[in-house]
Amino acid sequence: MIMTIRGHDTHEIARNSQDWPDRQLKMEPVSCTVDSDPRVGDCVTTQIFVERPDVMLFQGSARSVIAQLADASVDCIVTSPPYYGQRDYGVRGQLGLEDHPQQYVDKLVATFHEAKRVLKPTGSLWVNLGDTYWSGKGKPRGDDKKQKHRRFSRPQDKAGIRPWCAPKQLLLIPHRFAIAMQDDGWIVRNDNVWYKPSPTPDPVQDRCALAHEYVFHFVLKRRYYFNLAAVAVPSNGKRSTKPPPSVWEVASGHSSKVHPAVFPEELVRLPVLATCPPNGILLDPYCGSGTALVVAIKCGEGRHAIGIDISEQALTEARGHLPPPSNNQTKDPALA
Ligand SMILES: C[S@@+](CC[C@H](N)C(=O)[O-])C[C@H]1O[C@@H](n2cnc3c(N)ncnc32)[C@H](O)[C@@H]1O
Repeated sequence: MIMTIRGHDTHEIARNSQDWPDRQLKMEPVSCTVDSDPRVGDCVTTQIFVERPDVMLFQGSARSVIAQLADASVDCIVTSPPYYGQRDYGVRGQLGLEDHPQQYVDKLVATFHEAKRVLKPTGSLWVNLGDTYWSGKGKPRGDDKKQKHRRFSRPQDKAGIRPWCAPKQLLLIPHRFAIAMQDDGWIVRNDNVWYKPSPTPDPVQDRCALAHEYVFHFVLKRRYYFNLAAVAVPSNGKRSTKPPPSVWEVASGHSSKVHPAVFPEELVRLPVLATCPPNGILLDPYCGSGTALVVAIKCGEGRHAIGIDISEQALTEARGHLPPPSNNQTKDPALA
């Protein structure tokens, strides 16, 4: 039996996650062309990739798949979109290689605009983003023999439109994105800083070496689900605990994964524990190797996860990293 994911069936699934997913649920492959909309222009065929009791993976552009998910069906969105000009994932419709950073920001905001409808009013959206310098050198990084993903023509290596695209300019993309999200009606709760104690070497002579990225926390309403007790840290004050600070020291870690841009499980643990309630559903619309989904499942208590990625290769890898389905009732905060 073939059913489209948007509509009655996913409503049922999302409302009663114990029964989710229906074994017969299949997503009807949908081809949607929206190239006439310059803000989006990234739709590709969508298809279901895998289904199991607690995880669904969809291949397609984030925006086109989100457009088919049911209203108010997910509890939290935790994701790391492709950064501007950092990787060529080799897939048509990929985000991140737009000529101008504004086009990238516009596409990202358009995708999360669609996600507003899918997120419960009490839900949270967490977006990890790093920044990029304009180089204007005109040279692609063609000489990197070890890292295939760096051998491509980066938009920031071309001559660009000033003042943003001036050589050596830090583009401030994370905050341009956050401000555009504010303008689109999101409430920004934090621009958490991910401090990397051992960052990728940044051999520069005339500025500080980059050692941080951001993890923005957005909500839709003044009141939303946030389990402070699950993420509070010890305190020496009157109370024994206090809220976690907005600077997170998390090692990038050495990943054995094939995917070139994974985030560490530790980075995702706080967003999951704080904003994905027991039996809740996490969505990662740029799921890559599936780190956020893996953490949601490892955190237990009946959490479910939906992953979207445009790359079949990424989804194949994500599938391989998912912990085996279990009755999923036991909390495992150590993510052992
Ligand atoms: C930074 S990676 C995410 C990595 C992930 N957090 C992990 O830990 O593995 C971004 C992912 O977005 C995917 N991607 C690129 N453009 C996309 C689009 N338009 N829609 C959905 N996924 C896209 C890429 O294939 C890549 O896997």
